[in-house]
Amino acid sequence: MFGKKKETDKTRAWKKLAHHYKAFRKTEMRDLFKKDPQRAEKYNIVLDGLMLDYSKNRISDRTMRYLLALAQERKLKEKIDAMFSGEKINITEHRSVLHVALRNRDNTPIYVDGENVMPKINEVLGKMRDFSEAVRLGKFKGQTGKKLTNIVNIGIGGSDLGPKMAVEALRKYWGKGLNCYFISNIDGTACCEVLNKIDPETTLFIVSSKTFTTIETLTNAKTCRKWLTDALGEHAVAKHFVAVSTNEKEVEKFGINPENMFEFWDFVGGRYSMWSAIGLSIAIMVGMDNFDKLLDGAHAMDEHFKTASFDKNIPVVLALLGIWYNDFFGWKSHAVIPYDQYLQYVPAYLQQLSMESNGKFVSNDNKYVKYNTAQVLFGGAGTDVQHSFFQMIHQGTTPVPCDFIIPAISHNEVGDHHEILIANVLAQGEALMRGKTVAEAAEELKKAGKSKEEISFLKKFKSFPGNRPSNTLIFKKIDPYSLGMLIAMYEHKVFVEGVIWNIDSFDQMGVELGKQMALSILPELQGNALGIRHDSSTNNLIKTIKKLRK
Ligand code: F6P
Repeated sequence: MFGKKKETDKTRAWKKLAHHYKAFRKTEMRDLFKKDPQRAEKYNIVLDGLMLDYSKNRISDRTMRYLLALAQERKLKEKIDAMFSGEKINITEHRSVLHVALRNRDNTPIYVDGENVMPKINEVLGKMRDFSEAVRLGKFKGQTGKKLTNIVNIGIGGSDLGPKMAVEALRKYWGKGLNCYFISNIDGTACCEVLNKIDPETTLFIVSSKTFTTIETLTNAKTCRKWLTDALGEHAVAKHFVAVSTNEKEVEKFGINPENMFEFWDFVGGRYSMWSAIGLSIAIMVGMDNFDKLLDGAHAMDEHFKTASFDKNIPVVLALLGIWYNDFFGWKSHAVIPYDQYLQYVPAYLQQLSMESNGKFVSNDNKYVKYNTAQVLFGGAGTDVQHSFFQMIHQGTTPVPCDFIIPAISHNEVGDHHEILIANVLAQGEALMRGKTVAEAAEELKKAGKSKEEISFLKKFKSFPGNRPSNTLIFKKIDPYSLGMLIAMYEHKVFVEGVIWNIDSFDQMGVELGKQMALSILPELQGNALGIRHDSSTNNLIKTIKKLRK
């Protein structure tokens, strides 16, 4: 499909798994649970208050043995060590991948090109502490002397999704009187809707962009800058704008004093950057002590990932299960469903993390891969999504493995809401695993007094195939530490997948072509010339839109 050169999938473990799949694919989880009363205890990992139950998966000990052998064969241990020690594992961009250094709470030296990166990381963390405290205490004031209470992050992709997700997840930890807004989309509506709600005198804009060349972010930042200076004059920029970037030159060009810039580095990928100064909005909203706890939680997961044996390693097990379904069963999607309103943006965050990292078709050996790489990841907060896409999860033709995420205690324990919520998520996992046979459905209909004809007609519609896998992740309560663990867990899951698929999880060349073409279409939309260099469909679309906008 992608050319002549193909990455081989004929490794020993892969072949064994393919063979095992044929023999095992019809095995019912119902039966596996019946046969082994210890199954839940066996397929279970606990780390620091976080529990992964992966017993509701289509696996046996043999499956796990072969999957773990695949990880060994792909030299996962060496690859993990290479990442943590700063080796340039992003081979297409020749960069180290060191988001783990941002939360290296032991402060052990990590070297890139012979330089220990920890001092500069600690320096920026110190600068973030000083600034976030000054804003929270009202010491860093706006142009007219008022406290800055509206924090607006302008960024997109990795410079938006992580902070947005974490700020929402930690809403209960927000400083009193503070509000946070995120402007990402180039759609003017995104910008206008935020600006309509806030007062320039009390607003702090954080322009977050690794490259500081992203058209959406720079266009939004310019519009916000104009809105501010129209109200408060040019001098106000120094008091109301800060930047987070790796590109000091462009920050200065934009008109933000480099003193008001928080630095990060090429060894931090955009979608892995919420632990850097890109998390400044988080630090201001929840305080730097809580930001530190977020880093502590992520560090605990890093240590686990680095040191736990693979059979007891949460990110490794999650990744191997995903590969089992994606590459052997051929199920190409995966749903993540947090049962907590505060975690509502986790699926959107994970979409970029997973699909931008692993949606690749060329291997590290410069060959076209011939197995499936990133799954389609989607999700949303439960129980809402039970009333939208769960019909397909239960009765659709292709199973969609799910991750259910449940905090045992809610920040808002009102009446029996939380118990109803938990009952629902546990019921979903059980229902997906057990299903309901046609005979069981018929029996139920009989008990409900239905006629023979009705039973015979309805029984298939009312049956559930079951045998559909899910992982359940439980922790006590959402707090900065548990959130840090959870997000780092998914980062490392994505890393393991990349290693097994032998792809570079740390570039994103697939986003470039669309950007390039947009640049060529823009002048045609703005000028009088009709598009002539495109296909007839694109030409016609340009023509129609121009007519409508006249
Ligand atoms: O969409 C591509 C991308 O480069 C993402 O990887 C990144 O997170 C986003 O754009 C924003 O980039 P920047 O932080 O450089 O503005």
